[in-house]
Amino acid sequence: MRFHVLTLFPEMILQGVSHSILGRAIADGLIRVEAVNIRDFSHNKQLHVDDAPFGGGAGMVMQAPPVYEAWEAVSQKIASEQGEGIRKTRVVFMTPAGRPFSQEIARELAAEEDLILLCGHYEGIDQRVIDEIVTDEISIGDYVLTGGELPALVVMDAVSRLVPGVLGNDDSAEDESFSGMYLEYPQFTRPREYHGREVPEVLLSGHHENIRKWRLEQSMRTTMRKRPDLIDPARMSKEEAKIYRRLLAESEEYGPSSE
Ligand code: ADE
Repeated sequence: MRFHVLTLFPEMILQGVSHSILGRAIADGLIRVEAVNIRDFSHNKQLHVDDAPFGGGAGMVMQAPPVYEAWEAVSQKIASEQGEGIRKTRVVFMTPAGRPFSQEIARELAAEEDLILLCGHYEGIDQRVIDEIVTDEISIGDYVLTGGELPALVVMDAVSRLVPGVLGNDDSAEDESFSGMYLEYPQFTRPREYHGREVPEVLLSGHHENIRKWRLEQSMRTTMRKRPDLIDPARMSKEEAKIYRRLLAESEEYGPSSE
């Protein structure tokens, strides 16, 4: 998986992916991250890439030519590396106006060989170059950041951990034992007792099947309490549906929680 990030702050991107699991995945050649500085494609001595908006208003707008030429340079490089069977590389523009980012979109993007991520700054980018090169628009949430670099890092992190090998052999990016989209079950490690709180007995039992069942139930409980919108009975396995009915009956018996 190769990411090509068009940005005014390449160091921010390269720093952001240089640590922990992504840093190791790059060192192992599982993913590659290239940051292309849009400023390198400026048309003036001052290296400006922005100008005042037509029609007036606050702030500056990123000009079309440097963005287009940065994209063109990256596209040519990708084409020369791909050789035969060139596929049009998706260009993802990070913007609060985009599709809300999700695990499903991360899965979809992880299937691509190359991805171009476009980061805006100032008050935006000239619409004409967006119309010409962008294939996807993604938002990482309903709030406005100062630029697209942090959103691009979020997307690269979520996509990279789905690339085979990135999480290592033992870790699975998506818990295959659960069919639904549930929140994490609680985890514990040594010491067995901490500030008077014991580790749940079942986790010390060594009984793998009981541990699996306990974790599934904990995941479902947490999800029902904190993110009921993620629960989809239609996607449940028989086992999950049975647990779900029991937990629903339980919550009705004890009334709504005060949380
Ligand atoms: N650029 C600025 N804010 C953003 C957001 N919330 N998501 C994606 N890109 C952005």
